[in-house]
Amino acid sequence: MTQHLAAPLSGTSDDAPGHRTGWWQDAVIYQVYPRSFADGNGDGMGDLDGVRRRLPYLRELGVDAVWLSPFYASPQADAGYDVADYRAIDPMFGTLLDADALIHDAHALGLRVIVDLVPNHSSDAHDWFRRALREGPGSALRERYHFRPGKGAHGELPPNDWESVFGGAAWTRTTDPDGTPGDWYLHLFAPEQPDFNWDHPAVADEFRSILRFWLDMGVDGFRVDVAHGLVKAPGLPDLGGAGRLRLLGTADGGTPFFDQDGVHAIYRQWRTILDEYPGERIAVAEAWTPTVERTAHYVRPDELHQAFNFQYLATSWESEALREVIEVSLAAMRPVGAPATWVLSNHDVTRHATRFAGPPGVGTQTREPGDRVLGLRRARAATLLMLALPGSAYVYQGEELGLPDVTDLPDEARQDPSYFRADGQDGFRDGCRVPIPWAREGSSYGFGAGGSWLPQPDHWGELSVEAQTGDPASTLELYRAALSVRKEHPGLGGGSAVEWRDAPEGVLIFARTGFVCTVNTTGTAVRIPAPGELLLASGPVDAGNTAPGAEFELPADTTVWWSV
Ligand code: GLC
Repeated sequence: MTQHLAAPLSGTSDDAPGHRTGWWQDAVIYQVYPRSFADGNGDGMGDLDGVRRRLPYLRELGVDAVWLSPFYASPQADAGYDVADYRAIDPMFGTLLDADALIHDAHALGLRVIVDLVPNHSSDAHDWFRRALREGPGSALRERYHFRPGKGAHGELPPNDWESVFGGAAWTRTTDPDGTPGDWYLHLFAPEQPDFNWDHPAVADEFRSILRFWLDMGVDGFRVDVAHGLVKAPGLPDLGGAGRLRLLGTADGGTPFFDQDGVHAIYRQWRTILDEYPGERIAVAEAWTPTVERTAHYVRPDELHQAFNFQYLATSWESEALREVIEVSLAAMRPVGAPATWVLSNHDVTRHATRFAGPPGVGTQTREPGDRVLGLRRARAATLLMLALPGSAYVYQGEELGLPDVTDLPDEARQDPSYFRADGQDGFRDGCRVPIPWAREGSSYGFGAGGSWLPQPDHWGELSVEAQTGDPASTLELYRAALSVRKEHPGLGGGSAVEWRDAPEGVLIFARTGFVCTVNTTGTAVRIPAPGELLLASGPVDAGNTAPGAEFELPADTTVWWSV
């Protein structure tokens, strides 16, 4: 394999370590969820070969980079976010040679590749953890995780009051090699995901080595899973009445397991490794912090490059709330010089076409299908708003097809561990993970030659890539057009500010260099003066009435882009 290790994308003579092109500052990054994207071998589960074959589709869509959710060797207790071997591909996804070929082909098409890195926890099938259990109390390997004796007369109570994000105690009791009940270990997520002890030097060494392994394979960056969780407060103190472990933590960094200041030293070390490699390799933090100001800490100049903007993702389709989150996000990133990022959907939340299909205030998890037509209209408008903002944007596979969440999956089909452990919170993630439709017909609508690991709804064929290609009214063609305009128009994506203009209630109007974006978040059309020449609209508009300065009717739940 060493003979044809994938080269970094640009590979030009000035592509030396330290050379900065800033490709990531306004990049549109497409999330592939490998098990649900494309199935190359017809076993009903997506794989790396399937992704590789569909790279031309991504190239044509017009994205800059692909982020792949985990494909590493894993028992799949949490869909691969439980990694047993960080340097191996799970056989259900393929082999290292497939990964190499995928990186190589992506680069040949001008696409960058970002892989998921899961440093907060391993799988309970990881060799270190298995040996730690087998060797019993006193094993040096136990120090690489958080093993503790229980409380109570016989150690029958968990060591502290932390609860898992997926529900239930964040601790599981072990059985000693002689069969008697033993110590407990910490898992902020499922019991099959023991948390690493990042105070142990072997853990830090191992991850530096894993970073280098994948950088040597030619990847352009990492998405860092649970980036805010690695360091725990000394002594693992009780939360004390604060109740359930909250993913967002508290504003003062006072949550003993999330957003502890100690995580930043780790990212400073990682940054020096990334900077040693040519081609500007990056890292993006999945850090669920309570405020964008706390998120900005992860992207200081000597730390990671980007962080997901979950405050934006969680904002409902209301002009005031949107304007505020945009302002606050841009303001928080400006002092650290990092680009803002924007995201509407991912593999952990209800797709935005469904979140926006109901009344405002629907959380990031819902089982209500809402009004599909309304949801799609708003989702398309929300996408054009997102793609007009300064910074980098993330697109989750299938949103370019306008896919809704599958809200009526039968309970017996569900696989998300949080569904089985949670009492309502975070439990419906399977609905956004249903394999995507490529063709109008066929056993799995072109996903593969076999079935599909989650059942696809009957209307999936109408939403397929095949059905939408060439139809100018389709959501797929809207994304293609938007991404192409964004590339040609330097006013979009670049910069770090927007200039707000006066607008009627429920409407947002902002200008960028040579460009204006108008967004109607209300259910009724409004009249505004046409600010320039119409570039693109998220829905049907009266094109007869778009001469600059003429009174223009901006339809309900519609975004229009203008060149000025
Ligand atoms: C992240 C992932 C999610 C996973 C969790 C535990 O939040 O996005 O899918 O369940 O981490 O690894």
